[in-house]
Amino acid sequence: MAKQFDVVVIGAGPGGYVAAIRAAQLGLSAACVESESYADPKGEVRLGGTCLNVGCIPSKALLQSSELYDQAGHAFIMHGIKAEGVTMDVPSMIRRKENIVTQLTSGIRGLFRKNKVTLLAGHGSFGGREGDRWQVDVAARNGTVERVGARHVIVATGSRARHLPGVAVDNEFICDNAGALSFKAVPRRLGVIGAGVIGLELGSVWKRLGSEVTILEALPDFLAAADAAVSREAWKVFTGKQGLAIELGVNITGVTRRGEAVVVEYENDQGKASLECDRLIVSVGRVPNADGLNAAHVGLKLDERGRIEVDGHCRTNLPDVWAVGDVVRGPMLAHKGMEEGVMVAETIAGQAGHVNYSAIPWVIYTDPEIAWVGSTEQQLRAEGVPYRAAQIPFSANGRALGQGDTTGFVKMLAHERTDEILGVHIIGRNASELIAEAVVAMEFGASSEDVARICHAHPTLSEVMHEVALAVDKRALHF
Ligand code: FAD
Ligand code: NAI
Repeated sequence: MAKQFDVVVIGAGPGGYVAAIRAAQLGLSAACVESESYADPKGEVRLGGTCLNVGCIPSKALLQSSELYDQAGHAFIMHGIKAEGVTMDVPSMIRRKENIVTQLTSGIRGLFRKNKVTLLAGHGSFGGREGDRWQVDVAARNGTVERVGARHVIVATGSRARHLPGVAVDNEFICDNAGALSFKAVPRRLGVIGAGVIGLELGSVWKRLGSEVTILEALPDFLAAADAAVSREAWKVFTGKQGLAIELGVNITGVTRRGEAVVVEYENDQGKASLECDRLIVSVGRVPNADGLNAAHVGLKLDERGRIEVDGHCRTNLPDVWAVGDVVRGPMLAHKGMEEGVMVAETIAGQAGHVNYSAIPWVIYTDPEIAWVGSTEQQLRAEGVPYRAAQIPFSANGRALGQGDTTGFVKMLAHERTDEILGVHIIGRNASELIAEAVVAMEFGASSEDVARICHAHPTLSEVMHEVALAVDKRALHF
């Protein structure tokens, strides 16, 4: 007799592991299938998906190490700290990152044990349906296939790096995110294709450690998804003080390995050009892992971009089959996948699961950090929404001055008549943490006046959020 579960989740990334834990908390018998894409040093399957293994967590670990190194070289001196002969030991930095990954991935194993989630190691796919139960086949690396029964299936298979046609990623010279997080030494010349989130974050890591970094971007606009004022400021800082070379509007025509170097050929409005580098990162977006599920066999519908088609509650076209995270529409962000996992588990358990898609924050962990929630000014203008806008720089903030970094600003957009906050955009130190206040405000449908009337601790960077809320009504006190 095959094992039977109320819920089988396929994929143990942030969307999947959270869905499985929440389902188990709600009294459902839950299993989570995880392919053996990532393995720990003992060969055991590693949980946590892209995020924990080759995404959010390792990239933030390297960003922190490289930031400290950069500060020792450039920022300490303004405090009177003379740090001479500071060097970076890349293998130690990578080891630290790997230790963090091991700690967190094994932590999820512990959470599965604590919540009684059954882990099924192997590649999961749909076997078929019998009565009101789905069959899920779990193919282990040793060739065995176990068939389990499920009342509900949640697909959370995530995404993988998109590669350029004809450009073979070897993750040594030509790398996607996985290789770029494990360089053994600082490349002298680093090329990056794609000035998106990964290109900017990982480009920053290696630039701070001494690489000459050139980023080639297809689009004519820089960071088009962000508010235009933020993109302009980011462009100024990244290409100015930080020395990232970013070329926009390029068309890549070829990538070749020449001995120990990689040559990228491209065209721009000046004609043909080429870039020779020692390592190349290809970060041109991600593709959903919707193949390999036997989707066609059971009639699971995909959309025009190969993602599993779902409604606002992550229901697919099949009864009792759900899909969450990067494999469905919406931003490819870990916290968005986790919220969807909770929503689906709660809906299955008969509760009113819900995700507010208009209050999902975005954060880019560059220096300065960039974070936003809600609409950009250009979106409001295009939609004809009447609004009031205010922008307050960090330059007059006492805490920012004390910390020695006054780059950037907070911008707030509120409805002209109702004063409801429609968007908040931050570029500056700790933007990743500051944005949480804006998310809470928007979740509660706050007006700019609500935030303006909240007492903010002094001296903190959060006072700039307070000040910008006052400024929407033209009554800023310190600016
Ligand atoms: P994934 O994390 O991709 O997990 C899917 C899991 O399913 C994987 O473990 C995979 O092995 C498994 N799987 C796939 N197919 C099968 C199958 N058939 N059977 C069994 N198992 C299967 N997001 C943020 O919010 N903040 C960040 O700072 C951030 N930084 C990032 C940095 C980088 C370099 C990258 C690449 C991504 C980053 N992201 C970040 C995005 C984030 O990692 C993803 O949005 C998130 O991991 C998606 O979660 P998921 O559960 O949908 O899928
Ligand atoms: P991205 O979508 O952010 O950026 C890809 C960039 O590559 C775009 O600017 C695109 O115009 C460009 N591009 C596409 N094809 C190209 C070509 N042929 N030549 C030159 N440029 C080309 O994707 P990225 O950086 O790969 O990251 C994938 C996803 O992972 C992000 O969209 C995000 O969802 C997630 N992520 C989130 C992070 C965070 O939350 N801090 C950090 C890193 C990744």
